[in-house]
Amino acid sequence: MRVVTPTFRHGARMLLTLTASMIVLLLQLHGQSAGVHPEAIRYDEAARIFRIDAADVSYVIGINQNQQLQTLYWGKRLRPGDTLSPAHADGGSSGFDLSVSATPQEFTGWGGGLVVVPNLKITFPDGNRDLVLHYLSHTIRNNTLTISLKDIGRDVVVDLLYQVDEATGVLARSARVENRTQQPFTIEQVLAATWNLDASRDYQLRYLTGRWAGEWNLQQTQLRPGKIVLESRRGSTGVEVNPWFAIERSKQADQDVGDVWFGALGWSGSWQMNLETDWQNRVRITGGYSPFDFAYILSPGKSLETPKFYGGYTNQGIGGASRLLHRFELDSIVPQAPHRRLRPVLYNSWEATGFDVNEAGQEALAEKAASIGVERFVMDDGWFGERKDDHAGLGDWYINPQKFPHGLRPMIDKVHALGMDFGLWVEPEMVNPNSDLYRKHPEWVLNFTGRPRTEGRNQLVLNLAREDVRAYVYGFLDKLLSENDIAFLKWDYNRNWSEPGWPDAPLQEQKEVYVKYVQNLYSILIELRKKHPNVEIESCSGGGARVDLGIMHLTDEIWPSDNTDPFDRLSIQNGFSYAYAPGVMMAWVTDSPNWMNNRSTSLEYRFLSSMQGSLGIGANLNKWTQEDFATAKRLVAEYKDARATIQDGSLYRLISPDGDSAASVTEFVARDGHEAVVFAFLHSSQKGQPYPRLYLHGLQPDAVYTIHAREGKLEDDTVQRASGDYWMHHGVSISLRGDFQAAFLTLERDSSQ
Ligand code: GLA
Repeated sequence: MRVVTPTFRHGARMLLTLTASMIVLLLQLHGQSAGVHPEAIRYDEAARIFRIDAADVSYVIGINQNQQLQTLYWGKRLRPGDTLSPAHADGGSSGFDLSVSATPQEFTGWGGGLVVVPNLKITFPDGNRDLVLHYLSHTIRNNTLTISLKDIGRDVVVDLLYQVDEATGVLARSARVENRTQQPFTIEQVLAATWNLDASRDYQLRYLTGRWAGEWNLQQTQLRPGKIVLESRRGSTGVEVNPWFAIERSKQADQDVGDVWFGALGWSGSWQMNLETDWQNRVRITGGYSPFDFAYILSPGKSLETPKFYGGYTNQGIGGASRLLHRFELDSIVPQAPHRRLRPVLYNSWEATGFDVNEAGQEALAEKAASIGVERFVMDDGWFGERKDDHAGLGDWYINPQKFPHGLRPMIDKVHALGMDFGLWVEPEMVNPNSDLYRKHPEWVLNFTGRPRTEGRNQLVLNLAREDVRAYVYGFLDKLLSENDIAFLKWDYNRNWSEPGWPDAPLQEQKEVYVKYVQNLYSILIELRKKHPNVEIESCSGGGARVDLGIMHLTDEIWPSDNTDPFDRLSIQNGFSYAYAPGVMMAWVTDSPNWMNNRSTSLEYRFLSSMQGSLGIGANLNKWTQEDFATAKRLVAEYKDARATIQDGSLYRLISPDGDSAASVTEFVARDGHEAVVFAFLHSSQKGQPYPRLYLHGLQPDAVYTIHAREGKLEDDTVQRASGDYWMHHGVSISLRGDFQAAFLTLERDSSQ
């Protein structure tokens, strides 16, 4: 069904406005009964305005008098009858400040005097480097708007794709550059999209930074004129900065109130985001492939499509922004979306046995893991080639005959007999120089001829851009999965690139390694998933160094950090949750004292810290007492009861662990509101201060909920049953005192409601 949007310009303006609202109202009513939505994307031909309305968001673009595509509005959903003035290019303010840069364009070529970060920069074979993109045509198909731009002189066409998610209003934007000229040209920079924000002096930028075992630190800074660059030049997503941002417009930031715009890139290679604030305090955000060391030759008739740059808006604060993003990820991004399986409770051998894996040892651990309710047993590093430590074996993906004389089969059968499925660690993109593979194919790694090959963790990076390497990697994984009953792969990636050369490729194509490597990685994952549809995959990169919406689209869960200290994890997991859903975040219970900080904590505290995501156990079960097993069994069962709400519900951060807060509290509310789950943590009591009172969020105000303290204690005078309003506004006090204490509460809605 198509709404013909009226022009609003002429005599019949009033009548037409009424007509438009009535049509939309009718469509909405119709949509409610028939389960379809009114069309999210419409074009007003007279005003030359594209309007995208979805969930609580409107995004409006106009074609201005210079034929440029200009952002008119991005924010809270407008009323159907609201009209926007047609696009009008900014005149610029002086000879130094031309219209081309002053106008908030949706996608710019470097040319015509542009001085802001361009989306596309091309060098043509005749030396021309000027590119000026004007509106050419558009199509609207279902939820996708495609607007084509073309250079004013040359046959370079750029299709801008806008795909809208009706449930969340998140837009996926990308650009496809096509060479319709007669000669190849070089793309030196192509960024997927520009997001423009109106002028404000109250913009707060948030982004995530980290290092190995210290990932997911939330940074906050005020935007002022100038440019902030977030990027990875590491060949992969990287740990230093994650490709996510959120901008709040607020003087006083609040978790659940205020305008927030956010964005995330779906790309697992080197990337860049630029946040430019101009003298008027307007913000433009560009993002995509890192232009550093970038060159892509586009032959006649060929095209290059950028990664997707996702963007969203909410007026429900930074908390609302993450809830929206989580919903989008779980329902639209992860491979099983929208019918995602809940993550099973897994056991992983890494912290227990390190590289020292063998049949008897793993089977003994598997028996113990099964006894506490674990559903998936994962053998980590050490099972293949001559892998005794991290100096050898990567690349040689045969089962080590000393450790597993009968292959993996007897162990996998045993794991199945214990009622669990089986998972295995792999690091497919790497090779140790001390391996048969490297001795046979030294040319398969990233390298520059005659230059040193810098090692990281004693390993080199295979050049997955090469078709022979791609075939080898796909081949051994396919064989492994075909010959063994494996339900899960932990896919690791433990270093950054160095010497990113591809000497065997034609000279002018060698820098395409940045794009082709990741394209081949994705294609391997796609092909494997197709051939082995029941296999689930975890993305791991020495912890959280490859987490982005691109890899998330092809993997089922994420390992956020090698740091398993349960107290450090509170802030690590909190940071992670700003951009990514706790439902895909793997969190292990490991030994105490923990190796990271030598901190001792109770098993209950460790469990509750890990239960805020997808629960795993990584402790050495051989050292556990009978009491530990009993505690773990109880907590695994409690987790399974609450798991659907934790993994699939809405996260509210009641008290953030940031800023050395002694307390931190998370709450998960089931989508249908029938249950809330609360985890509360205390670092140390001081001076007899009581634990802060908790005011819940997201409950149905008039429904009645019964509270249960599953772990820890409520204050003695706590009522058990009360309304949602009561728990949200009167609140509840829990009795937490001491050091590293934790509580776990659930609130159940009366079943009649
Ligand atoms: C990386 C992972 C760890 C573990 C080791 C094995 O560091 O993040 O969880 O798998 O590799 O070598």
